[in-house]
Amino acid sequence: MDIPKIVVLTGASGGIGQVCLEAFVRRGCRVIAVDMNIETLERLVWEKGWEESVEVVRTDLRRESDIDDLVRVIGETWDHVDVLVNNAGIVKRTPTDTTSLEEWNEVLAVNLTGTFLITKALHPLLQRSKQGRIVNLSSRAAGRPHLNASPAYGATKAALIYLTRHWAAEWARDGIRCFAIAPGPVRTPMFDTLDPLQRDKTLQDLPLGRLIEPEEVASLVLYAALDCPEVMTGQTFHCNGATYWT
Ligand SMILES: NC(=O)c1ccc[n+]([C@@H]2O[C@H](COP(=O)([O-])OP(=O)(O)OC[C@H]3O[C@@H](n4cnc5c(N)ncnc54)[C@H](O)[C@@H]3O)[C@@H](O)[C@H]2O)c1
Repeated sequence: MDIPKIVVLTGASGGIGQVCLEAFVRRGCRVIAVDMNIETLERLVWEKGWEESVEVVRTDLRRESDIDDLVRVIGETWDHVDVLVNNAGIVKRTPTDTTSLEEWNEVLAVNLTGTFLITKALHPLLQRSKQGRIVNLSSRAAGRPHLNASPAYGATKAALIYLTRHWAAEWARDGIRCFAIAPGPVRTPMFDTLDPLQRDKTLQDLPLGRLIEPEEVASLVLYAALDCPEVMTGQTFHCNGATYWT
């Protein structure tokens, strides 16, 4: 029998996070499920009877001390980590003129700096895996202006594609592979923060004609994390409903 993979999944309480969590558990992984809001997650784990497979850790990725505590907790049980999925993210709906510095900084703090800090902190444990995988949740906003979101959102998602390539090159010799997933609009609570008019317009503009399901994103996350050929690294997998190709 294969040794279970040790997976750290951020934003595990969210729409894409919960579906990824279930998919990893079904594949026999041990998951450290990280989020700043853990009440729903704890209930889910209890209802599904996943206590053996999932450890829930409350972490606010805006706080370096929380990330240090998380890494300490992981290190008490595991001597390595196989997979890190940087899925936590936030969006603000303001245009440039009304985006305050505070709001700009908050989006950067979660989506970009939080990803940088947790990845840096977990690098020694990923290195010890000898086959570490990092999967970053970017967005189609990285490659196409997303005018229903603040400019900070697309800026962070484009930066994640850069970091994906940077870490792919920097840590290739450690056996670490790094990927980004760039979805278009996905049926999750984040999409629901659009007002009804924006939602209709988004759907009308989407050649696919429907929202992307979180299960479709999760299948790409698992492919990148568990199944992708060893020779591949640094790629961004686009699932944007036929909006653009690169
Ligand atoms: N839903 C979409 O249409 C869509 C499209 C493209 C990309 N994405 C990306 O996919 C990822 C997941 O999105 P989702 O739709 O599941 O969103 P979601 O809002 O349902 O979930 C995001 C999760 O991140 C957590 N989180 C937020 N700030 C945090 C912090 N400081 N520390 C720890 N956890 C924090 C939230 O509590 C939440 O559980 C995000 O990075 C998002 O940008 C989403």
